[in-house]
Amino acid sequence: MAIAKPAGWTPDSWRAKPVQQVPEYPDAKALADVEKQLATFPPLFFAGEARELKAELANVAAGNGFLLQGGDCAESFAEHGADNIRDFFRVFLQMAVVLTYAGALPVVKVGRIAGQFAKPRSSPMEKKGAVELPSYRGDIVNGPEFTPESRIPDPKRQLEAYRQSAATLNLLRAFAQGGYASLDNVHRWYLDYAKGSASAKHYQQVAERISDTLNFMRACGLNASNTAQLRTTNFFTSHEALLLGFEQALTRVDSTTGDYYGCSGHMLWIGDRTRQLDHAHVEYCRGIKNPIGLKCGPSLEPDGLIKLIDALNPANEPGRLTLICRFGDDKVEKHLPKLIRAVEKEGRTVVWSCDPMHGNTITANTGYKTRPFNRVLSEIKKFFDVHGAEGTHPGGIHLEMTGKNVTECTGGAQAVTEADLQDRYHTHCDPRLNVDQALEVAFILAERLRAEREEKARGPKVMLA
Ligand code: PEP
Ligand code: CO
Repeated sequence: MAIAKPAGWTPDSWRAKPVQQVPEYPDAKALADVEKQLATFPPLFFAGEARELKAELANVAAGNGFLLQGGDCAESFAEHGADNIRDFFRVFLQMAVVLTYAGALPVVKVGRIAGQFAKPRSSPMEKKGAVELPSYRGDIVNGPEFTPESRIPDPKRQLEAYRQSAATLNLLRAFAQGGYASLDNVHRWYLDYAKGSASAKHYQQVAERISDTLNFMRACGLNASNTAQLRTTNFFTSHEALLLGFEQALTRVDSTTGDYYGCSGHMLWIGDRTRQLDHAHVEYCRGIKNPIGLKCGPSLEPDGLIKLIDALNPANEPGRLTLICRFGDDKVEKHLPKLIRAVEKEGRTVVWSCDPMHGNTITANTGYKTRPFNRVLSEIKKFFDVHGAEGTHPGGIHLEMTGKNVTECTGGAQAVTEADLQDRYHTHCDPRLNVDQALEVAFILAERLRAEREEKARGPKVMLA
């Protein structure tokens, strides 16, 4: 089989490029040994799954689906366990069901999970009082504890990240395919949740409508035992492809097509801090065939975006590229329209997704990094409004969220205050939405998607002479 790859690209061609956000490993030989070992490990998934995800995303790009992507800012070795994975999966599926029902669109489910271990940092050093230490860069690199030993990058952590990713993915596959994710189950969790929720009335109305629909389908003879779509679901994984040595070590040629895939996660994305056109992260991602995400922040200008699209998706393949927009509530209206217009003018096919988290981080008076929930909602609303005005499809959402009842973002129906943040502030990096806040986002999105659908059904506006 001929191996297919872009001109000048090899799995290690990124090493000749300038690179941002690299850890300084003290022992180069130990790092090389770990990478050599990782290169012998099995890929975490089959390339056909990444092609399936690409096909689902192509459907989103065409306006016929919605991408739900979410999970921890940073996964943690210490919190790795079945309960956390299950709790995340439960709330994620509940959101997906609400969106599918109210939006009447297939929802593409992509977790920030089973590999989300490497973090870009705004400063290479962290200072506490008079002590200054290298910043924490995610569990795949060093430890979060503020001690000199913990902050030394340790390559062996990459082996643990691989092990944990494999175990997490295994359980997620079992949940998704083994019956746990059946629509009846998800609906029951949802009904339980609606009973105790602060905004129960809102949830119950939708819950009752879904109950009616399920009863109708059962009466027609469709149920979880005879209909695979009601019993199983597709669930994909994603993470930021930041630690390129690790990503290279898990790059494999797909034996069925001869194409290269980054086999650490189905979808990989390039962060806002590492998307320089001629740098290492763009170089690595241009050669693998996975669906790719590109974070778009306020410093990205239209011509820079088009050049990045040329590099990452020269054949304009639908589903290949998702633009994950993270401008901030106060900046989205200024920056998003010009990017949309450039992409439309050049006839490029992309999925437009909204990350309402990373442009809305503030430091509370108590010193905690937080995100006011109303700003998160406001950026989502403006994202939809801008797409409505431009006539393009608001194709997805990218959230930092957890299945636990944490207090990391202020606001929401339970009204988390700045003083509450200290109660259950567990994140290793950025503040995440808790269960209630995540479900509230799903409801608001569902309403917007329904409105978009109704608008579309009315057809194009006819101008009367
Ligand atoms: C992230 O997604 O956790 C992240 C660091 O995002 P960004 O690259 O958009 O800042
Ligand atoms: Co983050």
